[in-house]
Amino acid sequence: MDRSIIGNWKSNGSLELNKIWFKDFQENIKDSAISSTAICPPYLYLDQVSNIINKANISIGSQDIDISNGARTGSISIEACKDLGCQFSIIGHSERRTLFGETDLNVREKLLVAQDKKMSIVMCIGEPEEDYLSGNTKDYLFNQINKTIKNVDLAEDFTIAYEPIWAIGTGKLPKMHEINTIHKYIKDIVQSTSKNSMVPKVIYGGSVTSENAEELFKEDCVDGALIGGASLNGKEFAKIANQFLNKGL
Ligand code: PGA
Repeated sequence: MDRSIIGNWKSNGSLELNKIWFKDFQENIKDSAISSTAICPPYLYLDQVSNIINKANISIGSQDIDISNGARTGSISIEACKDLGCQFSIIGHSERRTLFGETDLNVREKLLVAQDKKMSIVMCIGEPEEDYLSGNTKDYLFNQINKTIKNVDLAEDFTIAYEPIWAIGTGKLPKMHEINTIHKYIKDIVQSTSKNSMVPKVIYGGSVTSENAEELFKEDCVDGALIGGASLNGKEFAKIANQFLNKGL
């Protein structure tokens, strides 16, 4: 996954709003920042959004995938997502875990199938607030990483999104240096847990806005951002992507 600034629209948007989004994005994005951007619209708008952005070099991703196609009523296959132009998928978002009962084992299965089918993956992990407050973040993340990727031969573009559950949609963030420390820890643990000693790209998610992105991107181990609420506004999302340019990658 070569994109670093990823918008997760969740279950938002409409045929009309999606057009406005792109207009606002285009009016505010710097040309050199476009190639770092990707958006994950709701499945039903993937086709429309692909057409609207046309050749604008924004990548399109899926918010989740199922492990198979065929007789699985209501599910979304990797094949269908690819057909509509998705170059990657998010898996393991905390909303999938808490609202839809997904486990680490489900996430692992998705990861394995996606890699098999050459779909790039952004895998979300993150701790609940009580674990953060009791100083248990590292143990919690170790457990999630261990269960999802132990002995997996990871694709070179495998990406982790560190999203503390308590920071999602709340306006609360860990301190910037804490985020950096945790990203470093995630890189180390993935390296020692994966079969091929992969050091992944680690992006941060949870209440990222154009107000805090500049500080966030100054941290060495922050390789990008997964943005929910602030990505719903094309201008705001463009501003964050423009700030990422200062990272000078
Ligand atoms: P947020 O969501 O930016 O609205 O906090 C992030 C996410 O859930 O990926």
